[in-house]
Amino acid sequence: MEKVLFVCLGNICRSPLAEGLANKLSKELGVSEKVKFDSCGTSNYHIGEQPDKRAIQNAQENGLKLNHKARQFDKADFREFDYIIAMDSANLTNINKLDQEGQFEEKLYLMRQFDDEDKGADVPDPYFGGPEGFQQVYDILERSVKKFLVEKYT
Ligand code: 4NP
Repeated sequence: MEKVLFVCLGNICRSPLAEGLANKLSKELGVSEKVKFDSCGTSNYHIGEQPDKRAIQNAQENGLKLNHKARQFDKADFREFDYIIAMDSANLTNINKLDQEGQFEEKLYLMRQFDDEDKGADVPDPYFGGPEGFQQVYDILERSVKKFLVEKYT
C-alpha cells in the first residue's frame, strides 16, 4: 500500500479537499487497495481544527464528506510517504528546505504538475476570498488528483 500526502499552508482548505477527492476518486477508479491518503499544512496556524466551514460546504455541494483534523508537516513524513504533493510553490519550497540533505527530493511534487489545463501553476489559496474560490479549487483538484491517480495507479 502506497501513501500520498497532500500539503498546503493551513491544512483546512486545499489539502483536506485534495484528500477527500483522492479518497473518492481512488474508489471510483478501483485503485483504493493500492494507495491511501493524508493531508497536512506547513504552518502551525490551525493545528487540531476541522476544515474551514467553506471547504466543508463546498465539499458537501460536490457530494464529498470531509473528515480531517489539521496537523503540521513533520520531518518523519519524508520517510512515511511515497508522494508528497504541495498545493503551491511556496509550500513546496518550505518542505524542500526541511529536506536539508536533499535525500527525499524525488518524493516532492507540485499538485498542478498533474493539471493539463495550467501545468505547474499554483492551486490558488482560497482562504481570503469568497465561496467561488473554493469551487475553482475543487475543479482544479478534481482534474489534478484524477490525473495523478490514473498515471500512477491504473
Ligand atoms: P489552506 O488555506 O492552506 O488551503 O488551508 C489557508 C488557511 C489558513 C490560512 C491561509 C491559507 N491562514 O493564513 O490562516
